[in-house]
Amino acid sequence: MDEVKDYWDQRAKDQPQAATTNDVYLRRLEAAALMSQLCSIGLPPEPRILDIGCGDGSTTSVIASNFPNARLEAIDFSAEMIDLARSKSGSDRITFSTGDVRHLRDRFPASAFDVISTNRCLINLRDKEEQYEALNQIRDCLTPGGYFIGTENFIGGQANLNSLRQSLALEEIPVRWHNLYFDETEFMDRSKKIFSEVELLNFSSTYYLVTRVVYSALCRKEGIEPGYEHPIYAIAASLPATGDFSPIKLIRARA
Ligand SMILES: C[S@@+](CC[C@H](N)C(=O)[O-])C[C@H]1O[C@@H](n2cnc3c(N)ncnc32)[C@H](O)[C@@H]1O
Repeated sequence: MDEVKDYWDQRAKDQPQAATTNDVYLRRLEAAALMSQLCSIGLPPEPRILDIGCGDGSTTSVIASNFPNARLEAIDFSAEMIDLARSKSGSDRITFSTGDVRHLRDRFPASAFDVISTNRCLINLRDKEEQYEALNQIRDCLTPGGYFIGTENFIGGQANLNSLRQSLALEEIPVRWHNLYFDETEFMDRSKKIFSEVELLNFSSTYYLVTRVVYSALCRKEGIEPGYEHPIYAIAASLPATGDFSPIKLIRARA
């Protein structure tokens, strides 16, 4: 686990402008998907929200600006990320602190939050028992009826994406060393025992299909290196989601 923390500490120091991903449009899409859920679940007037694995705080800041009455806490196990988040946010409405998703019960009382969010954080845990234990702890920190909204990675969407790539003779996109993706079927089975309602939403399928299949094939044909600054990323991000071709899914779960 220390290697994963070292990795994020180093990224916060080396790439402060793109500390948590180089794919800026993906991050916007994730934040938009989270916001759309937060707007639809019927929050109390002053919701208590915890963002776990907040990284440089970019998603937390989007929540803060859309929910001016929210009481926001944001934690990350990387102290470097928390320093970066504090320096970028400039908001005194967000309490940033170091904290580990594996030790939520030691840190927060039961029912402390109306909403808890994660963004590609649970996939950093080293084995699936830790991942499901983290989901249990998230549920315990939620008020009854509160929501866990997460964007996390799944192997089924990744396999569908790779099979499309394979049909165009593009190489497989591997799961990176610091990530452990969930299996969709197992996730649904196990999380239904933790939460009262669980749903998975394919919010980024078209985006992945266009950027990781169509654009990749085009780049290969033209003999150029793909780059995140290409306008196709903005176009892909503006299309509605269809299909199941992205590793990243939105989890909407009710305590
Ligand atoms: C992909 S980044 C996402 C950051 C941010 N949520 C965003 O939207 O840009 C994942 C973050 O999770 C943090 N993280 C990984 N494992 C963690 C753990 N066990 N407890 C708390 N944070 C963790 C990492 O330090 C990293 O900042």
